[in-house]
Amino acid sequence: MRPTPMLALLLLPLLAQAAPELDHADPVAGKTLHDKDCVSCHQRMYGGDGSTIYTRDGRVLSDKTELLQRVAACNAQMNTGWFPDEEAHVGAYLNQQYYRFDK
Ligand code: HEC
Repeated sequence: MRPTPMLALLLLPLLAQAAPELDHADPVAGKTLHDKDCVSCHQRMYGGDGSTIYTRDGRVLSDKTELLQRVAACNAQMNTGWFPDEEAHVGAYLNQQYYRFDK
């Protein structure tokens, strides 16, 4: 028996989707959560509807995984009590609306 190729086949799907959470999440639910819990503070900092924070020059996020981590970090600070799937909804909303990362 040669276990190695078998193992590679098993791992392949995991490698192919770095942040699968966002691909299966619901951006509409995400917008609701985001508008309720997240906008006010970004608004205070950047004015307008607060969305400039997602489109400003020199932003540091570069893929879905980092976006999800940022959402989780801001969320932890907020103590909203969101579940991971709710964080994914918000990540999916922000990605659809502003970031447009495809990986
Ligand atoms: C208490 C204020 C505050 C609240 C509330 C807040 N954030 Fe933030 N957020 C910040 C600050 C400050 C930054 C910028 C940090 C930096 O410059 O690295 C930021 C940056 C971000 C970014 C990265 C922007 C970019 O592209 O550079 C994302 C995404 C984000 N917040 C998501 C959220 C989400 C989702 C929520 C709701 C759970 C939330 N934030 C609530 C303060 C807040």
